[in-house]
Amino acid sequence: MEIRRINNKLFWMLLAAAVAAATNYVEAQTTDCFYVFGDSLSDDGNNNLLPTLAKYNYPPYGVDFPSGATGRATNGRTVPDYLSQFIGLPFIPPFANTTGSDVLKGVDYASGAAGILFETGKQMGDDISMDAQITNHGVTIATVIPKLGGVEATKNYLKKCLYYVNIGSNDYLNNYFLPQYYPSSHIYNLTQFADVLISNYSRQLRALHAAGARKFALVSLGSIGCVPAVIIAANVSNGCVQDINTAASIFNDKLRVLVDQLNSDFSADSSFIIVNSTAIFSLNPNFLGFKIQNASCCKTVASTGLCVANGTPCEDRNEYVFWDGFHTTEAVNEIFAESAYNASNPDFTYPNNIARLLSSSPSNTNE
Ligand SMILES: *[C@@H]1O[C@H](CO)[C@@H](O)[C@H](O)[C@H]1NC(C)=O
Ligand SMILES: *[C@@H]1O[C@H](CO)[C@@H](O)[C@H](O)[C@H]1NC(C)=O
Ligand SMILES: *[C@@H]1O[C@H](CO)[C@@H](O)[C@H](O)[C@H]1NC(C)=O
Ligand SMILES: *[C@@H]1O[C@H](CO)[C@@H](O)[C@H](O)[C@H]1NC(C)=O
Ligand SMILES: *[C@@H]1O[C@H](CO)[C@@H](O)[C@H](O)[C@H]1NC(C)=O
Ligand SMILES: *[C@@H]1O[C@H](CO)[C@@H](O)[C@H](O)[C@H]1NC(C)=O
Ligand SMILES: *[C@@H]1O[C@H](CO)[C@@H](O)[C@H](O)[C@H]1NC(C)=O
Repeated sequence: MEIRRINNKLFWMLLAAAVAAATNYVEAQTTDCFYVFGDSLSDDGNNNLLPTLAKYNYPPYGVDFPSGATGRATNGRTVPDYLSQFIGLPFIPPFANTTGSDVLKGVDYASGAAGILFETGKQMGDDISMDAQITNHGVTIATVIPKLGGVEATKNYLKKCLYYVNIGSNDYLNNYFLPQYYPSSHIYNLTQFADVLISNYSRQLRALHAAGARKFALVSLGSIGCVPAVIIAANVSNGCVQDINTAASIFNDKLRVLVDQLNSDFSADSSFIIVNSTAIFSLNPNFLGFKIQNASCCKTVASTGLCVANGTPCEDRNEYVFWDGFHTTEAVNEIFAESAYNASNPDFTYPNNIARLLSSSPSNTNE
């Protein structure tokens, strides 16, 4: 009797565990494909062969990455790298080199120094602007249409893919706030400039939608006035450059309005979410553990904020928020990606997190 009761209990415990495992499995396997757009925070090799100063394909970049310096602007994995792992996909190849990779699983089009506007970042050399990244995605689509058996089959495939876009920081740091190179701050005030960016971004996202994209995760701008290179350039002794953070928050407020608009315009078939960088950095308690919040781990070149080639980086990389003058460490990227993917705090993403974005059905993704 007693044994039987225990067995019963064990049975229910095992059943509960099996259900939990099955649920987790479904949650983790929610898409077959992942397309990435953006700047150096997401680049994984697209700038390696471009004539530009915005390159990071030399040591100590990649010191903690399995294959070393690949053209990722950090010591290890980027946020998209972590998201790929959570989704159950391999690392997504850069558009610049998809040799040996299955582009049906995804392509990364992101390019360091790039922005929403074509001219952004060009004082450093070439970059692949958002419009050019969308053109490159069209090239990928053209190659998969015959593999999938036609345009309709391809659209059916793409509607389930995750489209991740993190762009806009350089339109401020490598355009608006460099008046010696760019006229934008003479032409527009911050409200007007954010309107120019958002209207171009809206056009770009609608172009991706027209090409078949249906599930969008858009990353809002972080506190770009607090990165070490900006603090050093502005000669701020403690704290952040407030004007630049204000600019980012004006953009972010308008991004939220854009997302509401897109979700309403495409309510029948699409879903757009915001990954709220400000909320994640200010509210995730895991960030409190980082000892050094305002200095870079590697020694940087003053003019670019990038690591000095072959320099020895700090040893305690998990204690630093910043790897170089602009980019976060792998440790930060992991926490950020988890917060975006399936953290429970509803402030981190709006209106859904990435796991829910992916598990919703493509024909009616608004919940
Ligand atoms: C998603 O959330 C669950 C429950 O909080 C957690 O066990 C799991 O590790 C998370 N998955 C990822 C990829 O973070
Ligand atoms: C392109 O990618 C393949 C597979 O990852 C790699 O073996 C090769 O070295 C890369 N080529 C260049 C020029 O980076
Ligand atoms: C920018 O100019 C417009 C029109 O003059 C004005 O309404 C707006 O408040 C200004 N924005 C900022 C941030 O100064
Ligand atoms: C995009 O930005 C440019 C300024 O670079 C502006 O002239 C143009 O009107 C914007 N395009 C859209 C569709 O808003
Ligand atoms: C930076 O600020 C300090 C005082 O806050 C001042 O002494 C120094 O001259 C400034 N340096 C530059 C390059 O402006
Ligand atoms: C960095 O933060 C430390 C501790 O909060 C502070 O003492 C230091 O002045 C800051 N440095 C800069 C350059 O902001
Ligand atoms: C991001 O989160 C902050 C803090 O919770 C909030 O004030 C802001 O409105 C949010 N921004 C967006 C674009 O959702």
